[in-house]
Amino acid sequence: MPLLKTEQLCVRFGGLAALSEVNFQIARDEVRAVIGPNGAGKSTFFNCLTGVLRPSSGRIILNGEDITGLRSNLISQKGIARSYQITNILPNATALENVRIAAQSRRHAWNMISHHGSFADINAKAEAALASVGLLGKAYDLAANLSHGEQRNLEIGIALATEPKLLCLDEPTAGMSAAETGETKELIHRIGRDLAILIVEHDMEVVMELCHRITVLHYGRILAEGTPKEIQENPRVQEVYLKT
Ligand SMILES: Nc1ncnc2c1ncn2[C@@H]1O[C@H](COP(=O)(O)OP(=O)(O)O)[C@@H](O)[C@H]1O
Ligand SMILES: [Mg+2]
Repeated sequence: MPLLKTEQLCVRFGGLAALSEVNFQIARDEVRAVIGPNGAGKSTFFNCLTGVLRPSSGRIILNGEDITGLRSNLISQKGIARSYQITNILPNATALENVRIAAQSRRHAWNMISHHGSFADINAKAEAALASVGLLGKAYDLAANLSHGEQRNLEIGIALATEPKLLCLDEPTAGMSAAETGETKELIHRIGRDLAILIVEHDMEVVMELCHRITVLHYGRILAEGTPKEIQENPRVQEVYLKT
């Protein structure tokens, strides 16, 4: 059984079909890229999966459970996390506090009151999430004082702290230097061993190196799907995307 699948997913904005009949599947140990020209529907797809947007029709199934139309906080509790293109960080909180807030959001309020160990537990989880994005050494730095690349990685840490089964990353290397891009690539590769990752990325080198498979969106439809090699060699993909 795939970790996540969509069936005939459609999103319409007035007369515009932003997504049409998207049938998508991702396995639980997969790193998948979604690529496509501007306006292809990539962010709309992420918005549906994370409950930011309700699809016009079709279904989203996580672990066999229909999660279509659930609110984003519920979807987060069920195991889909996202880091935003636009930063999601509290600048005047420390790196650790930023991650701890996310770790807490995973819990029900009654759970925190009734279990004495919970606070220590949340701290441990927050530290683990920071460690996995290489920021444990900066736990007590204000987020505002981190470099751009470190802030982007902190966003990934925030998403990881919710203990997702599927992590959606929208352009994680945007605005990064070559060195930072290399580090983030390694980071994604490392965390991808333990969960499924869905990544929107324009840097084709990053996509080709990191991802097992690629899904190409074009005008809201899946144009092609395959390994990086298959996608690179696909003439239709070259026509609409790689050559532009
Ligand atoms: N909230 C919205 N209202 C109306 N149209 C939208 C909205 N969000 C996206 N769109 C349109 O849907 C299409 C897909 O957009 P988007 O998912 O952002 O593409 P991508 O992320 O691939 O660049 C575009 O034509 C865009 O203008
Ligand atoms: Mg987008």
